[in-house]
Amino acid sequence: MIKYYEKTRTFIIETKSSSYIFGLNDRSVPLHIYYGARLAHPEEMTLKSTNDTERFTSSVKSFEYRQEYVTFGRGIYDEESIKLRYHDGISDTELTYKNHSIVQNELRLTLSDDIYSLDVTLVYRAFDELDMIERYAVITACGETVTIENAASANIFLPSGQNYEVMTFSGSHMREYTPYTNIIPRGKLVFETRRTVSAGPYHVPFFTVTNTSAPCTETYGELYYGMLKYSGNFRNVFEKNQSGTVKITTGINFHDTKIELKNGESFETPTAIFGYSDSGVCGMRRNIYDLEYEKLAMRSNIEKPFPIIYNSWYPYFFGIEEEKLVRLIDKVADLGAELFVIDDGWMQGRTNDRAGLGDWFPDKERFPNGLLPISKKAHDKGLLFGLWVEPEMINESSELYKEHPEWVLCYKTREKSYTRHQLVLNFAREDVYNFAQETVDRLIEENELDYLKWDMNRYITEKDTLRDFEIKFTQNVMRLYKHIREKYPRLLIENCAHGGARADFGLFEYCDRINRSDNADPVDVLKLHEGFAMMFPPRYAGGAGNIAPSPYNSTNGRVSPLSYRATLGMTGSMSVGFDILKADEKDIEKTREMIKYYKTIRPILHNSYFYPLSSYIQNKTAIWQYTERNGRNAVIFIFAHGLIAGEQIRNIKLRGLIGDMLYEINGKRLSGDTLMKYGFDLMDELKDDFPKYLEEPIGDFYSKIIEVREAKTE
Ligand code: DGJ
Repeated sequence: MIKYYEKTRTFIIETKSSSYIFGLNDRSVPLHIYYGARLAHPEEMTLKSTNDTERFTSSVKSFEYRQEYVTFGRGIYDEESIKLRYHDGISDTELTYKNHSIVQNELRLTLSDDIYSLDVTLVYRAFDELDMIERYAVITACGETVTIENAASANIFLPSGQNYEVMTFSGSHMREYTPYTNIIPRGKLVFETRRTVSAGPYHVPFFTVTNTSAPCTETYGELYYGMLKYSGNFRNVFEKNQSGTVKITTGINFHDTKIELKNGESFETPTAIFGYSDSGVCGMRRNIYDLEYEKLAMRSNIEKPFPIIYNSWYPYFFGIEEEKLVRLIDKVADLGAELFVIDDGWMQGRTNDRAGLGDWFPDKERFPNGLLPISKKAHDKGLLFGLWVEPEMINESSELYKEHPEWVLCYKTREKSYTRHQLVLNFAREDVYNFAQETVDRLIEENELDYLKWDMNRYITEKDTLRDFEIKFTQNVMRLYKHIREKYPRLLIENCAHGGARADFGLFEYCDRINRSDNADPVDVLKLHEGFAMMFPPRYAGGAGNIAPSPYNSTNGRVSPLSYRATLGMTGSMSVGFDILKADEKDIEKTREMIKYYKTIRPILHNSYFYPLSSYIQNKTAIWQYTERNGRNAVIFIFAHGLIAGEQIRNIKLRGLIGDMLYEINGKRLSGDTLMKYGFDLMDELKDDFPKYLEEPIGDFYSKIIEVREAKTE
């Protein structure tokens, strides 16, 4: 609900548990008043100081001058949200109220710099039940040309005089989503990326902020959080100034970037979403899942369980050809998998990573009949069929390079830089975009694809000379995803970027699966998954194979049992990726059996809420509860590895059930109330698995599944 009080000139944005308030001062500049727990009397909140000029004359006032959209200019020394350069070289910006409209849950507040004929519209949307507020800004030149040197999506202030800490995910390839916590210092804490092609995995445009003196845990306490719907260079600044004012600024990273707006032209920033939870991380996670399920995901796809994949990458890498894949399809169907994916290696000359990118045609020798017969064979066997692409990339040995060397990002005066022997196409160019769109459309149609895996395996090192190159590049990547989504609504799309480098909110709505990581080692995955699942529902947690070869040679050489890997595979989007043409019949049989069982619990798992009852990172035992959205059924996964003798978990309290409903759990009938308050005696239930637990630690690779089902009436 959004209200405007004419008398006090305040705007109030309310959600179920939060209030966000700002008002107009004597010069009609919108200044922030409050963001936090919902107030019973928000009308009591008014701006303390109304004398705008004090910000120039008093240093204290300047530090407390909390603009809703901080302008670069006189008396402003903190991080700005907007920095413009006008035609006369002046960069001082003054934005004052012009008009506003409130329609349902949306506020559009237009501010203008009258001297320079420029409008900035701040858009706010309240998601009441989700306790979230969406914000973005639209900047419009209404006279002379203006240059944008910085334009954040939003800044928000937190209650002053407090100390806060910020949790962000940091990491790298194979080690994504590692949580790090830092105090917001006197000064600035900046998380940003400049790699252009993706927002992650070194930093991810997602954060939580908590008050250091009011503890927040998984189930308890207050926290703020935010995410940016953008898949390129971002910049998040957490700042505390000399007077204790705390501000978060989030948006595109304008490092080395400028946008020129001519009369009548506009620039719209990406959307930032902020949230407030008064029930710890758990409350936040539930709300994020609701946002994704209800508002962002493709309805027709999210309502169906995601199919079980067999992917060619881990077992065969580039060693694929028609006869082998055709033989494989029979085995895949027999295993019970549902989607057959040809990964990297199918294109002309791509028997290693030095060739093939750019020439998006099947290799003539290895696939003399093209890919359609393989697609048809998969379909005949009742499988869906999917294909891998990497549209932004090119090998120098390709025909495409010969035809269009000018499409490649490089400098005439410098040596080209290669990663994985590949170069990057200039996706900011319209002709390159058109080529990529035609290629992807053709591949989808020509091969009757049900699934597309879009990969990206290197960062930008060279740029175009365009001043807004990075933004155009990202916009075109997002535009192509959107195009595919809209043109082929039934196609399943995996967003992959050498693992999880594009696990961000910018692409979420255009994909059905996200490559969580290239790391398929199950113990490492236990750690990665808890971070991933804070932002995305586990059904999105993809990868080329979570039932991968063991040891998976690109990681740490750890050997793990098949059943452990397969059980872990059930906690995300299951994908089989070991060589079933050569595997032991015993392993095939085990996988078949586990897939069969998985199908019986999948309706509960996909779209469930994720509750880490025990965190692997903290306890070396992961106990993850997946509860159906309606609370009627749940599945508990237990994974232990590296336990010390005698370490055990006795009682676990379940979460998200219905208090007065009766459940069946391990042959017992217990109410949701008991299960959530007293809990469930885990060691007692698992005693058969742990006969000599205390004397003889069995602490490695232990996994178990416990179903919690709605009790049938007797
Ligand atoms: C990186 C991806 O993350 C893998 O799943 C696989 O598709 C390879 N690229 C193929 O080159």
